[in-house]
Amino acid sequence: MHVRILLVLVSCALSVITGLVIARGGVGVTAARQRPLIGLSMDTLKEERWQIDRDLFTAAAQAAGADVLVQSANSNDVVQLQNIESLITQKVDVLVIIPKDAAAMAKGVELAHQAGIPVLSYDRLITGCDLDLYLTFDNVKVGELQAKFLADRIPQSGKLRLIRIYGAKTDNNAKLFKQGQDNILQPLIAAGKVEVIFEDWAEDWKPENAKKITNAAITKIGPNFDAILASNDGTAGGAIQALTEEGLAGKIIVTGQDADLAACQRIAQGTQAMTVYKPIQSIATKAADLALKLARRQPIVARDAVSNGKTDVPSVLLEITSVTKENLRDTVIKDGFRKESDVFQ
Ligand code: BGC
Repeated sequence: MHVRILLVLVSCALSVITGLVIARGGVGVTAARQRPLIGLSMDTLKEERWQIDRDLFTAAAQAAGADVLVQSANSNDVVQLQNIESLITQKVDVLVIIPKDAAAMAKGVELAHQAGIPVLSYDRLITGCDLDLYLTFDNVKVGELQAKFLADRIPQSGKLRLIRIYGAKTDNNAKLFKQGQDNILQPLIAAGKVEVIFEDWAEDWKPENAKKITNAAITKIGPNFDAILASNDGTAGGAIQALTEEGLAGKIIVTGQDADLAACQRIAQGTQAMTVYKPIQSIATKAADLALKLARRQPIVARDAVSNGKTDVPSVLLEITSVTKENLRDTVIKDGFRKESDVFQ
């Protein structure tokens, strides 16, 4: 092939996979401030993972020369919007948002942009707005790993009878986890190898709602099922509580996500079968680095793009790992995310 044509093709391919984020205008930081100020708006701090996200993000940003203001909305959209307004009033140079409601927080992005402040969507996508950057894990793959684990455990004769517990309907990630699960399960359901006997969404991702769903499933169909596809460790915990009350804990396969300490302990004890480890150290330090670049109005190269319904958002997707009793030591413990003495108390 002619060298010039080859170069043109390569450059076309690159422009498809590479999104270049040029931070929006605005006041500009470094002239006014020695240390950029980052605003972090969080949905909640109830789940263990979000406390770790906050601590690691703040530490990384401070070490890189920035200051961080953190606000948590306690799972309330109105409060989260107020938090964002307050961070804008305090003249942050960049906003990092973990939205409770993907659609509702588009308003927060608009307000930030009116003030010339760029926005990084952290872990969860904000939909229907001109978002600057999205940093997350491969969420469809999370769902695929959860479902693959079950697909490998279909009884030799017969089918796997399954309860499915999805996350919060308002969280775009919950839909992506389901999409990944469906990718694996749909063909198995069509082939009669998996039967979904009960399914529901756990409002606000609350463990107590997952427990209610499990109770309702047992009331309806009795104890004759094989597995619960819980979408994260919090909901897995709620489901396992219901199983414990019925004397079923350890007999039913339960999935999860986040490698929460309580979940790792349950995996060691045998009441939960797997979790998905998403290295928070990676997302938190990468987010701090990207937020600082946005604050300093430096260009960023993002290799992926994710549609949020309004635009293709330049995105960075991080890798994940499936964790079971067999590889607890080689994954979360080896990585220093969990201590052996905590997991195997
Ligand atoms: C996150 C999960 C988390 C869930 C509930 C999702 O958006 O990706 O890690 O368990 O929210 O907070």
